[in-house]
Amino acid sequence: MNVTKAVIPAAGFGTRMLPAAKAVPKELLPVLDKPTIQYVVEEAAAAGIDDVLLVTSREKKAVEDHFDRIPELEARLAASGKPALLASVAALAERVKVHAVRQAEQKGLGDAVYQAKRHVGSAPFVCMLGDTIFSTTGGAESPTTALVAAYEKYGTSVIALEEVPAEKVSRYGIVGGAMVEDGVIKLDRLVEKPTPEAAPSRLAVAARYLLTPAIFACLEETKPGKGGEIQLTDALQLLLAREPIHGVVVKARRHDIGNPVDWLKTNLLYASRDPVMWKAIEPMVRELLG
Ligand code: UTP
Repeated sequence: MNVTKAVIPAAGFGTRMLPAAKAVPKELLPVLDKPTIQYVVEEAAAAGIDDVLLVTSREKKAVEDHFDRIPELEARLAASGKPALLASVAALAERVKVHAVRQAEQKGLGDAVYQAKRHVGSAPFVCMLGDTIFSTTGGAESPTTALVAAYEKYGTSVIALEEVPAEKVSRYGIVGGAMVEDGVIKLDRLVEKPTPEAAPSRLAVAARYLLTPAIFACLEETKPGKGGEIQLTDALQLLLAREPIHGVVVKARRHDIGNPVDWLKTNLLYASRDPVMWKAIEPMVRELLG
């Protein structure tokens, strides 16, 4: 079965990004000149996905608005000979149909994914966190492209994995399992925030998941867990008891923009990779470094 749909949860309160995220959804905070979530949708499109479902909320309508067309603006940019700006606001809409559904209450990531049940139907889909982007250097493929390729080979749910330092395993969902080929693991365990001693590996679940629709029955059975929220990890543990799941160690670098320090670091890193922007910024950075 082809993977053509992506679900992007973007309904969280984003408390670590307050006050910036009070009226402007954190997923719309920019990395350079582009909102974070636009990078996420572009990653989906590059992996062959043409149908994106945004999970938003009453307070986060602007996320849907960002993907709407504005004919007057497009006409103005076309008439004034600004093809690059025109493409930046219109090109993606031609490749991907963006839909939205509301999560009525912020009951956790698992509950956000569950809102996609009707839209997704009986097909596998990719779940991409709306506040996390990946940068690829040296020709590395994006996590979504890697997940789709692994699904085509193994026909199971596939989770993106990232190696983290031992002292940080207690911040993540950590997997255990057997290596079936270079960078691909058949999971036998999924442990949420283990101590370094209890961790089955240093491979952490990393913001991208390719899921079979069996996840929805698991979510229905998942009781509120940590923080009173429906945790996607808890539902994945149930799924793992019913179906095989693979993990793919991604080669791209992960950037979480959900906290001010990482958001700023990501902006600086992306600026350093843009020759025009860096030419303007580098002298100031050098001055600050003395
Ligand atoms: P986070 O774990 O970063 O949660 O969610 P959060 O609530 O947005 O942020 P903090 O912890 O308060 O700062 C990861 C992704 O899942 C979405 C978020 O919008 C984010 O893109 N999410 C989270 C939902 O869609 N619904 C939820 O109930 C929780």
